[in-house]
Amino acid sequence: MILNNRRPRRNRKSEVIRAMVAETTLSANDFIYPLFIIEGENKKEEIVSMPGIYRYSLDTLLVEVGESMDLGIRTFCLFPSIPEAKKDKMASESWNHEGVYLKAIREIKAKYPEACVMTDVAMDPYSSDGHDGIVENGEILNDETLEVLGKMSLAQAQAGADIIGPSDMMDGRVGYIRDLLDENGFTGVSIMSYTAKYASAFYGPFRDALDSAPKFGDKKTYQMNPANVKEALIEAELDYMEGADFMMVKPALAYLDIIRVLKDTYAIPITAYNVSGEYAMIKAAAEKGWLEGDKAMMEMLLSIKRAGADAILTYFAKEAAKLLQK
Ligand code: PBG
Repeated sequence: MILNNRRPRRNRKSEVIRAMVAETTLSANDFIYPLFIIEGENKKEEIVSMPGIYRYSLDTLLVEVGESMDLGIRTFCLFPSIPEAKKDKMASESWNHEGVYLKAIREIKAKYPEACVMTDVAMDPYSSDGHDGIVENGEILNDETLEVLGKMSLAQAQAGADIIGPSDMMDGRVGYIRDLLDENGFTGVSIMSYTAKYASAFYGPFRDALDSAPKFGDKKTYQMNPANVKEALIEAELDYMEGADFMMVKPALAYLDIIRVLKDTYAIPITAYNVSGEYAMIKAAAEKGWLEGDKAMMEMLLSIKRAGADAILTYFAKEAAKLLQK
């Protein structure tokens, strides 16, 4: 027997009403599309653990950016795959203006001035140690690393980057980079800080893509412990005070509570990184016929937005934008 005349099912009775009362919607404007870059020409290499995601040489990269722009995706986050021979302890390839990464920024901005280019700031893709900071006697040095991150950020800003994205988790890097950018006249360049970046097993496929896995140990002395929420509030307070324009939570799916806490606590935009392992899980299950890939993808993205993310870095950007166009 129904004890109350309120029947919630009435608001679910048709597609029209369901759409009318939807509290959360997705659009291509929500997506930031991560792209992997390699040296060479006419290359498009699929990443084994990320079906549908490729490493692009500069020529094929521009085609991918163009196709994405046609689907309404306008922000791109670039990651470099650097040959082992160019890696060193100081990640010096990261500020080489003739290197593939800074060239990619310049070429995208030249061909698509309306595209928004976000960078990655961390030593690991360029480091012979595979760590996000300078390694000395098995330790990751914090303050010495800031100088490298600064050089890298400044070079990216000079190349035309719109948003600098420090993903390294060194203490004090947002303020350090902000000051350096400002002193050099780049007051208009934004910082999207990887504020709450956890030491996660979900980065595995990304490290395959860039061949950037740590050569020894793990990243637990700088990335956060998955057990902690309050620590995210400390990181957020620091990043906010140091001048971050956006604060990111990474990974997304296993950390929806962290996204919500930051969204409720801060007035600046909160973003989330729907990481490589989250992509791979859905792709693998869909390939086996164990999940409906498209539906699981859209539900995952919607849940990240519902949790409070204003934008989502996701390898699904293009696929999701295509579905949204239908
Ligand atoms: C490294 C970096 C990582 C990712 C983005 N920047 C991996 C790591 O910390 O080892 C992971 C992204 C993904 O898994 O999709 N600075």
